[in-house]
Amino acid sequence: MALSEIPLPSADATGDDPPEIRIDPPGPMSRAAVTRLEQVECPAFGHRRDARAAVSGADMLPIVLASGRGSNLYDVDGNRYVDLVAGFGSLLLGHAYSSVLRAIEGQSTRLIQALGDVYSADAKLALLERVASLHPGVRPRVLLGQSGSDAVTAAIKTAALFTGKPGLVAFEGAYHGLGYAPLPACGLRESYRAPFREQLNPHVSFAPYARTEADVDRALGGVATALQKGNVGAVLIEPVLGRGGCVVPPDAFLTGVSELAAKHGALVIADEIWTALGRTGSMVRSTTVGAHVDILCFGKGLGGGLALSACVAPDEIMSAWARADEVVHTSTHAGSPLACAAAIATLDALRFRRLVIRAREIGPSILDHFRSELGGLRDVVEVRGVGLMIGIELASGAVGLRVSRDMLARGYIVLTGGTKGEVLTLTPALNISEDRLRDAAAALREILSAP
Ligand SMILES: Cc1ncc(COP(=O)(O)O)c(C=O)c1O
Repeated sequence: MALSEIPLPSADATGDDPPEIRIDPPGPMSRAAVTRLEQVECPAFGHRRDARAAVSGADMLPIVLASGRGSNLYDVDGNRYVDLVAGFGSLLLGHAYSSVLRAIEGQSTRLIQALGDVYSADAKLALLERVASLHPGVRPRVLLGQSGSDAVTAAIKTAALFTGKPGLVAFEGAYHGLGYAPLPACGLRESYRAPFREQLNPHVSFAPYARTEADVDRALGGVATALQKGNVGAVLIEPVLGRGGCVVPPDAFLTGVSELAAKHGALVIADEIWTALGRTGSMVRSTTVGAHVDILCFGKGLGGGLALSACVAPDEIMSAWARADEVVHTSTHAGSPLACAAAIATLDALRFRRLVIRAREIGPSILDHFRSELGGLRDVVEVRGVGLMIGIELASGAVGLRVSRDMLARGYIVLTGGTKGEVLTLTPALNISEDRLRDAAAALREILSAP
């Protein structure tokens, strides 16, 4: 199969069309492509698929994607889907957003790669000023990276340099990426850490994450205990557990964590990689709920689909990096002009299209709609979320996998999260229509109501 043989979406595709399944997914083209993928891709992915098929009893063979526009994705068999995942939450404007494409095209004809931290590009400077302004602190400064894991790595290093303390408090259920700095703080699954345990930072303690008002005191008690172990330089926290199952803690938990950290001389690193830039209805979730944070991490949606992340902190903290000997943290592609141009166009579009406000405004009614469609159904435990980050907790991981496959068969792309894969997690583009979201809720109701 050559790429040129796969048709692009037709000229009248709106990017907000309902699903169109021409052939049961995965169709023959996807199946053929997967057979080839299995020959060359790291076997981890195929093994996970087989394990999931065994657990759920569902055929987990994937589709292979060919193109996307807005909130629609097309597979190599020509099926059209409604994308409720949007690049793991990274495509805040959906696929092929025109001003982002123009920015990428324009920048690609000017300068694709500069010289990172030696001779920066003008696009990087423009982006740094924009990203710095997201931090409420004094004279914020930015360290760029490519992945979320990079941003968290930069934050952990920053805290260690500034405080001189290696200890880190992290949370049960948390996910911050799988590089060697964030991995020891991965509370989502022990199995992510176990094979590498001997090589990981041993100074990490886990505290409980508050899921409800009733949990707050106990969870904060756990944070205090972890902080009392001493030598803790930072508390690393997601303002909403993302991969951990879209858990929105009470605001008092986040503010309480930041107060405890300050009391014990530890910095707060807010991992806003999933929650920021409008996903949860604000540009920065942690500060919006009133928590004091020292270091902010951005990623996912920042690059408009290109790989870009940022660690941001006030000058006083970032000054810890100023040393006589060398720049001790940098990388070839950090601040790639192409990604910076896409990021600026993304931030502009979020503002001009009022998409952050839109997520804040429509989020509650969309959540209510999902609740009223799904509430009371046998396998539905809870529907929760904030902004356009919605989690539907089901009875088990096996049910989650089966439902995600049934949704695929109907033309909706959803993924599972939570510690056991029991939470359907929806992170659509912020400009998706309410109609498409309501259709998705109806499809889920039908699937979950089936005997
Ligand atoms: C909250 C959070 N932090 C960090 C990461 C890691 O980002 P990346 O996969 O780009 O390394 C993720 C990825 O899902 C995330 O959800």
